[in-house]
Amino acid sequence: MLATLDYHRSRLASGVTVARSASRPSGLGAARRPDCTVGASMIELRDVKKAFNQGQHNEYWALSGITLNLEAKRVTALRGPSGSGKTTLLTLIGCLARPTSGRVSLHGRDISGLPERFLTEIRRQTFGFVFQQFNLIRGMSALENVMLPAFPTGRAHRELVERADALLERLRLTHRRDARAEWLSGGEQQRVAIARALINDPEVLIADEPTANLDTALAKEFMAILEGFGAEGRTVILTSHDPLVVESAAVHRVIDMRDGLLVEQ
Ligand SMILES: Nc1ncnc2c1ncn2[C@@H]1O[C@H](COP(=O)(O)OP(=O)(O)OP(=O)(O)O)[C@@H](O)[C@H]1O
Ligand SMILES: [Mg+2]
Repeated sequence: MLATLDYHRSRLASGVTVARSASRPSGLGAARRPDCTVGASMIELRDVKKAFNQGQHNEYWALSGITLNLEAKRVTALRGPSGSGKTTLLTLIGCLARPTSGRVSLHGRDISGLPERFLTEIRRQTFGFVFQQFNLIRGMSALENVMLPAFPTGRAHRELVERADALLERLRLTHRRDARAEWLSGGEQQRVAIARALINDPEVLIADEPTANLDTALAKEFMAILEGFGAEGRTVILTSHDPLVVESAAVHRVIDMRDGLLVEQ
């Protein structure tokens, strides 16, 4: 047991997730990982399957065997009908859940079997999430919601406020910074969720249907931000039904899913 922990610890200590925070700049348009070339495989899934309620009468296989390489510094869109497994796949890629079987690797390191506390660390240091349902905290202001994922990093409060304000401004939400989450419209909540996902300057942005509640103008705005991410060399993995998103020049690769499987091109 102890040997296993030491093994995981040493893998993490020598791994990308811990090393990256030391050298990274904090600006909004910060240069991305210099050791990771465009097109290099960053996230690898090997025959990944995910069952819900395994062994019970309502057992359901949401993913039935996904093998996929996701490249660094690319914007990848997952597309497919409702129930095809897009959100489930995002949760596995973002270390929010573990596969029932198969392997998920990040920069060549198998992360599928890591204990929860290591996954939490990888999540915080590597990924920013925009959830399908936003998951903003009611009773907290837009600004506080944006700052929330940065509290465990121990960064100075003033620095966090400045960064959160800059993100809110970029998403044209400055006038709503002090409004409680529950007072915001759907589109405003979505933009707060996007700002929150960016507060820790994540290497990988994961966005589940990011334009679902935006009107055309705001959806285009989001795509412009996405294009900026591509130019910054940020890795983005999103799901979308929206032609404005999947057919946009900001998206480098579209992956089709159906019934928990990839649709071969
Ligand atoms: N926690 C869960 N328990 C049981 N079944 C689940 C759970 N989460 C998802 N599922 C089922 O797994 C399948 C895939 O769900 P998922 O949310 O990944 O689909 P999706 O492609 O994101 O759909 P949508 O486009 O509607 O968001 C669905 O049939 C769903 O009902
Ligand atoms: Mg979904």
